[in-house]
Amino acid sequence: MSSGGRVFVSRRIPEPAMQILRGHCEVEVWPERLPPSRSDLLAGVSGAEGLLCLLTDHVDAELLDAAPHLRVVSNYAVGYDNIDVVAASERGVAVTNTPGVLTGATADFAFALLLAAARRVTEADRSVRRGEWLTWEPEFLLGRDVHGAVLGIIGLGRIGRAVARRAAGFDMKVIYTDAQRFTDVEDELAVDYVSLEELLRIADFVSIHVPLNRETAGLIRRRQLQMMKPGTILINTSRGGIVDENALVEALREGPLAGAGLDVFDEEPLPSDHPITELDNVVLAPHLGSGSAEARSAMAGKAARNLVAVLSGRMPDHIVNPEVLEK
Ligand code: DGY
Repeated sequence: MSSGGRVFVSRRIPEPAMQILRGHCEVEVWPERLPPSRSDLLAGVSGAEGLLCLLTDHVDAELLDAAPHLRVVSNYAVGYDNIDVVAASERGVAVTNTPGVLTGATADFAFALLLAAARRVTEADRSVRRGEWLTWEPEFLLGRDVHGAVLGIIGLGRIGRAVARRAAGFDMKVIYTDAQRFTDVEDELAVDYVSLEELLRIADFVSIHVPLNRETAGLIRRRQLQMMKPGTILINTSRGGIVDENALVEALREGPLAGAGLDVFDEEPLPSDHPITELDNVVLAPHLGSGSAEARSAMAGKAARNLVAVLSGRMPDHIVNPEVLEK
């Protein structure tokens, strides 16, 4: 039963989550497959008390000013670099996200990319389809062993830890770096803390699991890429802005990288004529880390419940700027 409060949902999300919203609010949903244009988004939020948005929607001061009744921006994602949280806090708008429920799915996908890049699965698939499989050859499409290799995890948060657990099952040695050291989980996860430089010099595989923010934007540039060992494979399921893409293309063309598994890019969708699409040693995915049916539906439920909690005057389970509700 609706208790009032207009809510704009910037894309269709799984139906059970829509039912949660409809039970409490008057809901308007952007019905198209592609995101609302900027003007459609501004029109959608004007007069709304709640916005349930995706990582493709940019929520900034201009948008917040166009929505004077807005009380909550509920992001259908754990990352919230698409939202100007400071501007939201200044206007008393709560920002919520969906951590936890996509940890396993994203770690699975990071591992899928790691295995695919190491054993050249997508290259092999393309080669079979092109009729290049002429016989069993001793040195055809050789990849790299995953077992016994060193995995360097950048960012030992929820997803980084889940990747470390999977790596243990593959008999990898795991090292990590982060802004802080997590001595309390090092034994349980069998991980060793090293500096970023050490990690880049030692690891056979490097997997990125830090959020995109001022500290991490451009963390991996030409200098960092050139520190890596010849043959290193880079995996990124976090955000494209953490890696300098021009330097990455150079490192994949000329070394030291042997390959990469990339789910995220500076510009999304990745333009189909981007130079990285010409490289055979890269496995590309369209930002699918959380893309299991289970994770996406749990994210939708969490996003809907977070939004309803704020509009009902309660503290949501996951809020980025709790201070706006504590006043
Ligand atoms: C997130 O939730 O931040 C992910 O990038 C979505 O897949």
